[in-house]
Amino acid sequence: MRSAHQSPSETPIIPVIAIDGPAGAGKSTLARDLAERLGMYHVDSGAFYRTITAWALKAHPQNPEKAITPAFLEQLDIPVAPYGRRIGPVNRQGQPLGTEIRTPEVNRWVSEISRHPRVREYVNARLRALAVRWPLVIDGRDIGTAVFPDAPVKFFITCDPHVRAQRRLAEMRQAAGAAPLDEKAVLENILKRDRIDSQRATAPLKQAPDAFVIDTTHLDRTAQLEKAVEYIRQKAPFLLAGRSR
Ligand code: CDP
Repeated sequence: MRSAHQSPSETPIIPVIAIDGPAGAGKSTLARDLAERLGMYHVDSGAFYRTITAWALKAHPQNPEKAITPAFLEQLDIPVAPYGRRIGPVNRQGQPLGTEIRTPEVNRWVSEISRHPRVREYVNARLRALAVRWPLVIDGRDIGTAVFPDAPVKFFITCDPHVRAQRRLAEMRQAAGAAPLDEKAVLENILKRDRIDSQRATAPLKQAPDAFVIDTTHLDRTAQLEKAVEYIRQKAPFLLAGRSR
């Protein structure tokens, strides 16, 4: 259960850490590591958009945007549950959704589906409802700008696109045993999604003015975590209260 910290004006601060940035920059890894370190819960907001895309693809494999109708949105109800230090979409058996929302087809369409304002409203409402109950580290594209503009800590993660493509390829190899795509195709998908995500009308990917930027091009997992913890120690030490570091 969350414990809301009181600000000097006695307005409770929702303990949300917002992590935004382009595809494959290391947001999810940092969010997972921070949740562990701080005793919070990691929510990957992209998993919600990916789940909606996977469902829309089932209805319209050739053009899933056709599935995004008022009727579809009205009955949209993604089951969500905590598992370990994570909270996210689960299947009927309560298992977290994984490879089924990370297929090349979902990668191909997810940014188009995420452009729809009604889709965004749905995901945002789910995220805000979770934040009422749990202290969260949330990663996405618009968490610090649109979903939780008052988050006490915001990170914007950047990284060289080639490094991002290599990391994503390594992840895919690990998940699938063999990579179905080459680096060029992965890089193209990443750049295309970045373009659509940055240029869309509703809540585009952009850096919040009060976000702390971490460029992970030359940082490994431990170094990026330490940089983030150091910033939290300065900006919002109450999030570290009771923790040894
Ligand atoms: O893991 P990766 O960085 O590749 O992407 P993701 O976080 O799984 O997000 C997949 C897609 O969902 C993004 O390319 C965006 O189009 C969309 N998304 C969004 O619009 N807003 C968010 N807060 C999170 C994801």
